[in-house]
Amino acid sequence: MNQEINGAKEEKAYFLSVLSTFKSYRDQSLLRIEHKEKCLATLPSYHKKWLSKYKKDLETFKDCIEKNSKFIPIVLQHAHTIFDNVYSNDGSSHSEINVGTLSEGLDKVQSVFKQLMRDWSALGAAERNQCYQPIIDEIILQFPAEKFDRSNINVLVPGAGLGRLAFEIASRGFACQGNEFNLFMLIVSYYVLNHCKNVDEYTIYPWIHQYCNNLTAEHQMTSVRFPDVKPMPTPESKFSMTAGDFLEVYTDSDQWHCVATCFFIDCAPNVVQFIETIHHILKPGGVWINLGPLLYHYSDMKNEKSVEPSFEVVCEVIKNIGFEMEKCKTGLKTKYCQNPKSMLQYEYDSVYFVCRKPIEVSNGNGLLDGNDEFMSSREGGKKKPLKQPKKEQKDLDESDLAHKQKLKEQQKALQEAKAKAAQKGPLVGGGIKKSGKK
Ligand SMILES: C[S@@+](CC[C@H](N)C(=O)[O-])C[C@H]1O[C@@H](n2cnc3c(N)ncnc32)[C@H](O)[C@@H]1O
Repeated sequence: MNQEINGAKEEKAYFLSVLSTFKSYRDQSLLRIEHKEKCLATLPSYHKKWLSKYKKDLETFKDCIEKNSKFIPIVLQHAHTIFDNVYSNDGSSHSEINVGTLSEGLDKVQSVFKQLMRDWSALGAAERNQCYQPIIDEIILQFPAEKFDRSNINVLVPGAGLGRLAFEIASRGFACQGNEFNLFMLIVSYYVLNHCKNVDEYTIYPWIHQYCNNLTAEHQMTSVRFPDVKPMPTPESKFSMTAGDFLEVYTDSDQWHCVATCFFIDCAPNVVQFIETIHHILKPGGVWINLGPLLYHYSDMKNEKSVEPSFEVVCEVIKNIGFEMEKCKTGLKTKYCQNPKSMLQYEYDSVYFVCRKPIEVSNGNGLLDGNDEFMSSREGGKKKPLKQPKKEQKDLDESDLAHKQKLKEQQKALQEAKAKAAQKGPLVGGGIKKSGKK
């Protein structure tokens, strides 16, 4: 009980420190420019003379930061309602003043501006076409409107970022849920998806903090408007977002017709656990569509137990877990939050694949589940003959099970630390739902 209370207190403190970090964006960013100005002031006077345009540029950068910061209070005025006011700043045990800001927070706020470009601006359309379109096309192909009532097809998008992919899937009639654990992303996506009313309402400068590889200062000051479409889901659309760690929120087996992951699977310290979970939560016959690189996010973190298998090994894991890989392409040219004018262009040769959880696979209770109504629908009423499952639960020997248990425990400890960043609950069109489950 005490533990629960402490956990809730910590979560609230974390939430408030995220708000306080957002609010510190302007001052912290301007402080960085002031530091550059101080450096400039120490240079010999003829250097200063030659750098006078740079000095002026710094002044203009300040204006852009001022404009970016105008968006923050607009977003934050709704932040407390995300979780039905459970984190309201009521002056009780915590306040934003005494929680302070997060050390890594400024970077997170800056990446939210870039992510707004990727997900919700016209300039981001090129990236979205590379990254989201192949996934959307595949979902449409898998569930043709003539055969399916798409509003009954449940699609999950873990690691949804600012929600555009999930929104696009829902806009095509599917019941789609995005899941995200980063509170910076959640607060902004909640605003965009629930409160942004007009197309191109806001102007931001996503790369104003990128001081390197600019041909001209204007390139650093590239602006974008957002949202490029009216993002409010229609009342009839089945669209929701949940907050929380994917591994913790989604534990029930056989729930989803489709899981769509974009630039996500490399966000796990142990990618195997993500794949296992995706397999577990998919309905028999359900499909997993993935696109992205393997930029293992935990790889350089000293205190993380990270594994970084190559794609070749990941494919083996996928098969061992019991998936059938139906499509696989490598070398998809994809960018991520890239300034198109920068001298430095990162481009991933991403992998794209489509995997199916076989109909007859064990559902974790040792039961076979071949009578799923979704499957009879997929096959137009006919069911495929049963095939041998790739690996049934009973194939797991004791050491496998012990290993699985250990991994679970390790992951639990890790997740507890990360859970401070998260609360579970639907963020679009609803109040808090503690379980966060579908
Ligand atoms: C690289 S971003 C990709 C975002 C989006 N899919 C896109 O393509 O723009 C990965 C996202 O997954 C989220 N994420 C990472 N691990 C997660 C987890 N265990 N549960 C939920 N979200 C997670 C991160 O916060 C981040 O927003």
